[in-house]
Formats: sequence, structure tokens, C-alpha cells
Amino acid sequence: MTNFAAAAPFYAAYRPGYPSAVIAVIRDRFRLDGTQQLLDLGCGPGTLAIPLSRHVNVVHAVDPESAMVTEGVRIAAVEKAVRVAWRVAWAADLPLLGLPPIAVATLGRSFGWMDRTRVLSDLDHLIEPHGGVVFVGSSDAGARPDWLDVIETVGAEHLGPGYRDRHGPNHRGVDPEVDLSSSPFPQADTTVFDQSLTFGLDDLIGLQFSMSYTSPGVLGPRKTAYERDLRAALLACSPSGVFHHARRVVCTVAVRG
Ligand SMILES: C[S@@+](CC[C@H](N)C(=O)[O-])C[C@H]1O[C@@H](n2cnc3c(N)ncnc32)[C@H](O)[C@@H]1O
Repeated sequence: MTNFAAAAPFYAAYRPGYPSAVIAVIRDRFRLDGTQQLLDLGCGPGTLAIPLSRHVNVVHAVDPESAMVTEGVRIAAVEKAVRVAWRVAWAADLPLLGLPPIAVATLGRSFGWMDRTRVLSDLDHLIEPHGGVVFVGSSDAGARPDWLDVIETVGAEHLGPGYRDRHGPNHRGVDPEVDLSSSPFPQADTTVFDQSLTFGLDDLIGLQFSMSYTSPGVLGPRKTAYERDLRAALLACSPSGVFHHARRVVCTVAVRG
């Protein structure tokens, strides 16, 4: 069980999806035509796997957190996305999964959780000669909104300073900032997409419970007080209860040299 166990229902309900242009970039770059096998590693509830499944034969959606996979199976059923093969497994288990040759491996905000060198080497054995790896991450597009500071202050009050870094290796950086130049996939191209997000107060609270570092599992008995204080602080910051975020989604396509 991971910190995402208790976060999974909140992840499925409150994490904004990626812009459809991200899916279009992957589809067009690799000429996906309904025949390919894809791998989505660290798939969560299928944020990438489900929309990509419309363009391939099968997406092998792999995540070590069974609660995330349960959410993915549920959402896929609702969305009638039948071309997803769900697996509960760690990235380190990749060579043991008996996967077929893969055209494209996608990693949405998950690469930072893995042994990057080892995963890239394992992917090199799995991915077809003209295939590639796609990293999707997100960051702030412009000035950081005030309410993000409010969330961090309340988090630190309840969980201590540096609480974000204690429950995950890479919360601040954008995954694709990794240097791929000496990896098996050194030719990298990055496209960015700006997304305007608007949250209500309940959405923003739900979003915090979707984070590995403020999941209900991490908060434990502190959850009620955390939620109470966060609501009050967020309303003081924005009495309308409406919160805007300019988000930048970064999509890096990496192929062999
Ligand atoms: C931030 S979520 C991203 C989910 C989804 N890909 C997305 O883009 O929204 C990170 C996911 O990586 C998974 N994860 C964490 N460590 C992992 C590992 N070592 N191997 C594979 N997946 C891992 C977590 O369980 C979680 O579902």
C-alpha cells in the first residue's frame, strides 16, 4: 500500500485531466492508428491511459497502488474504455510482466517516483525501434497564486515544515526536466500547453486529499482539523470561494538517437 491508497478516490474525483492536445500530440507523433500496444507506467486512475486507449489496440496501464487501479477500472467502465489492460505492479517489476513489444510508454507525473536510470534501461528493451517514451508533467504557468501559499502554510502547521518532500521524491520539479541526453532515448522534444483551471472551495480541499503528502492516510487523525483550518484560511484568502490557476502542462517526447 502506498500513500496514494487513501488518496485514490480523491485523485479520481478532483485532479484535473490533461488538455486533449496532449493526447493529440502523442497520437500524431507516433501515428497511433488503433493497432499499437502502449504502456502507461504509474498510470494512477488512467489519466493518460483512458484517453489514449481510443487510439490504440491496448494500453497496458501499470501502477503499484491497487486503489488507483480500482478507480481506473471504475472510470474506464463508465467511459466504456475497453482497451485498457490494468496491472498492479511497480516500475521495477517491468521485466517480469511479460509485456509485448511496446510502441510508446507514457509516464504522467510518475517518473520522479522511480529509479529513472533503471526504468529507461528496461523500457529500452521493451520499446519497438521507432517507438518512444512520453513524459507528462505540470507546473505553474505564470505567477504562483496566493492560495497555493495558503495551502502550504496550513500543511506545514499540521504536518511540519518540508511535509511535501517527506512523502514523495519530486513534487516541485516537472518530471520532464530530467536530462535524457545520456539515456537510451536522447532525442527529446518538449511541447507546453497552458491550461486555465478554476476550483471551488470543495474542489480545492478534495484536491489536497489527492496528494500523496496530504492524503487522508498521511493526515490520519489530523484530517478534520487540517480541513477545518484549510477551509477557513482559503476563504480568508478568497472570500468568493473561487480559485484560479494558470497551469502549464509539459509534454516531452523522447526517442532513440
Ligand atoms: C502523481 S500520480 C500520476 C498518475 C497519472 N499518471 C497522472 O498523470 O495523473 C503518480 C503515480 O505513480 C505511481 N507510482 C509511484 N511509485 C511508482 C513506482 N515505483 N512504479 C510505478 N508507479 C509508481 C503512484 O501509485 C501514482 O499512481
